[in-house]
Amino acid sequence: DERRVIFSGIQPTGILHLGNYLGAISNWVKLQNEARPDDDILFTIVGWHALTLPQNPKELSVSRRDMLATLLAFGIDPKRSVLFYQEDNPCHVELSWIFNCITPLGQLRRMTTWKSRLATVRNANDESEVDESLLNAGLFTYPILQAADILAYQATHVPVGEDQTQHLQLTRDIADAFNRTFDPQKKFFTLPEVLITPNRRVRSLKDPSTKMSKSNPDPSTRIMLTDTFAQIDKKIRSAVTDSIHGITYDPVNRPGTSNLLSILAACENADVEEVAKRYVDKGHGVLKKDVSEALEGLLKGPRSEFERLRQDRGYLDAVAKEGAEKARARSQKTMEQVRTMIGL
Ligand code: ADP
Ligand code: NA
Repeated sequence: DERRVIFSGIQPTGILHLGNYLGAISNWVKLQNEARPDDDILFTIVGWHALTLPQNPKELSVSRRDMLATLLAFGIDPKRSVLFYQEDNPCHVELSWIFNCITPLGQLRRMTTWKSRLATVRNANDESEVDESLLNAGLFTYPILQAADILAYQATHVPVGEDQTQHLQLTRDIADAFNRTFDPQKKFFTLPEVLITPNRRVRSLKDPSTKMSKSNPDPSTRIMLTDTFAQIDKKIRSAVTDSIHGITYDPVNRPGTSNLLSILAACENADVEEVAKRYVDKGHGVLKKDVSEALEGLLKGPRSEFERLRQDRGYLDAVAKEGAEKARARSQKTMEQVRTMIGL
């Protein structure tokens, strides 16, 4: 078996919600804890990507530190994983420029993330009219930066959600284009594989037809990882369910009830159908009480660890510094070779 290099990134959005934890961070922690001793694991907080949307600099600097504290509090161990801020390793931007210059525009235009971004600035009456002044170039090219993030470390495996598979394919295409253009052996960059992580989509507590998201203006639709038990309990009590008697897992016809069941199953690390059986002759009141308590059990420890770490700026800075050094060391050889290959 070849040695694995596992790489993933997350934006510095500060405090996360339950969907981010169950859908992304918990998978990272599991990968780290189940990794083989010779696996190399890198997790990065991608500040450059955050700049594609307007940011308040003061808030951004707090959010990136909060993200680091969150990852540590929920179990990313800087002894086992290289944990670092993307912007602390200059090679991401350097390599992304090189990739910019070998990526055809048409390939970027085909990204569904770009297409849906374009749709947001389309004239409602005339679809052909697009106000591109509302978009910046970074929004168009950030999948190239993502490719650089991954390829700088010669990653072999990238744990991402299914919504990212197109970007991963672009990364492979860019690696392949570079190899064909600059490497006589045509194999310099490793073509990374997607590690599709379990699809644990958490839904909005108020409208379970949509996913739990930070962009919903109503904060009662989501559980934040810093919520107190009182806040959790209040949100779960007011979660939308249905008036059908008894509890069954039926995501199509009973999305609210099923969302609560899958949250409970995730907290217990159990199979959702098995969990549902326990409630078949019970009511929503009992289920909600158990969901609140399970969430408290899951979040209590990390929540206080987060609050503690957040105050310990010296420790956070030391973790970031050590992570940056390790990240730079891991990308150095690749970058030197790249420069030689392109003639600069
Ligand atoms: P948001 O939708 O709140 O803006 P992001 O788009 O920043 O979240 O996603 C960050 C990570 O969290 C991604 O890996 C994404 O797949 C995951 N994620 C976000 N929302 C959910 C959810 N409701 N259920 C499961 N995973 C989610
Ligand atoms: Na989002």
